[in-house]
Amino acid sequence: MAEIVTPENKTESYRIFDKIAKTYDFLNIILSLGIDRLWRRKIIKLIGNSPRSNVLDLATGTADMAILLGKTENISNVLGLDMSKEMISIGKEKVLKQSLDRKVKLDIGNGMDLPVESSSKDLVTITFGIRNFGDFKKGLREMHRVLVPKGQCVIMEFSLPKNILIRSVYLFYFRNFLPFIGNIISKDKMAYSYLNETVEKFPYGKEFSDEMINAGFSEVAIHPLTFGIASIYVAKK
Ligand SMILES: C[S@@+](CC[C@H](N)C(=O)[O-])C[C@H]1O[C@@H](n2cnc3c(N)ncnc32)[C@H](O)[C@@H]1O
Repeated sequence: MAEIVTPENKTESYRIFDKIAKTYDFLNIILSLGIDRLWRRKIIKLIGNSPRSNVLDLATGTADMAILLGKTENISNVLGLDMSKEMISIGKEKVLKQSLDRKVKLDIGNGMDLPVESSSKDLVTITFGIRNFGDFKKGLREMHRVLVPKGQCVIMEFSLPKNILIRSVYLFYFRNFLPFIGNIISKDKMAYSYLNETVEKFPYGKEFSDEMINAGFSEVAIHPLTFGIASIYVAKK
């Protein structure tokens, strides 16, 4: 969930994740106070109990979401794809540690040009990844392509609180404290500097759900989390 790309140049944003992979999980816990774990659990609740044979977790990073999906009984197979070798390599270690390596496979793959057959996945998830794509609309179209008809798409991304007071406090934290701590711990001077800008410029709420509809999705439901600082979008192909 933590991060690093400029709003102008995201084409190769994964390269920065290669640099900060080692501190990524630790920073996630510190900067979100562990709340991202609760949000990921909420996704598991939202996807329900129906059996899913093939699940794709896109921009899987260090595999937190892929692992949680892999621990879910009604899910048989999870493929996690990401462009960052270093993030995937840490993810693989975590998958092995949890003895999930038969159920959860991780590989390199570009979300804007997925190495995945059309209509082959029951569920596609992406948590804090889509905003990093050079062309997020292309990413949405790819997610739509690989889903089976009526397949489910779940996207979690940052958003901004509606309440003006909460929004100001949050933006202060987001623009000042978070880049300061993020850059120190990741030892990368720029790594966390642009996180707030990418979030503030990225569509959320109805604007983002309209983009999902443009990509072919239907029945988009928006679930704001923790005063609206993040949102989960659930939709159908
Ligand atoms: C903020 S991390 C999110 C990681 C993980 N999903 C999580 O929730 O912690 C964003 C991830 O997007 C990946 N990424 C960026 N552009 C990508 C692309 N075009 N295709 C696949 N992954 C990409 C990065 O390498 C990085 O691991």
